[in-house]
Amino acid sequence: MKFFIDTANLEQIREAQDLGILDGVTTNPSLMAKEGVSGKQAIQQHYKTICDIVDGDISAEVLSTTYEEMIKEGEELAALHSNIVVKIPMIKDGVKALKYFSDRGIKTNCTLIFSAGQALLAAKAGATYVSPFLGRLDDISTDGLNLIDEIRSIYDNYLYETEILAASIRNPMHIINCAKIGADVITSPLSSILSLLKHPLTDLGLAQFVADAKKMG
Ligand code: E4P
Repeated sequence: MKFFIDTANLEQIREAQDLGILDGVTTNPSLMAKEGVSGKQAIQQHYKTICDIVDGDISAEVLSTTYEEMIKEGEELAALHSNIVVKIPMIKDGVKALKYFSDRGIKTNCTLIFSAGQALLAAKAGATYVSPFLGRLDDISTDGLNLIDEIRSIYDNYLYETEILAASIRNPMHIINCAKIGADVITSPLSSILSLLKHPLTDLGLAQFVADAKKMG
């Protein structure tokens, strides 16, 4: 399973990259705004900087919502770096845009997926990645992991190559359960990735080993 980090924060991206387990980055307009990135030039420079830090797929989301504008914006984003994946919302014009980019060999990530039907359409349109938002479904008392499971079954039935990129991860159990189900990728805040490495018995055991090592001279 591939690990992406879901942030536009350069410090956190560098920290995850330093761990040696990072395969890519996802961003969205809210994450970019949180970092104070605004204006076309600054946005493009920010994506280029992320591409310099991480050698993997970097999702850059279009800000427009009409077919023509998404094509123009997506082509500009894709031209920034060969690792840019154009992130497109699951709307009618978005499905058309996914097909446009897929026909031209430009990678896409279809975002804001909340149903199996949406994931099926995105795969039919040739999306490289589909992003089901499991945390946001959990937030409204709907089982987000069940959606990941449904999409896995559908894609396996027809051997769709679209990768399931489990998004809106809220905790380490989301990551573990996505791995059990067979999501191809998870995109997560740094905190949930780091939580995977924690166990009190590891800390206790290491403290004992360090103490005993001192006795060995
Ligand atoms: C995915 O691509 C989105 O950027 C992200 O995972 C959304 O997560 P949130 O629900 O925590 O905002």
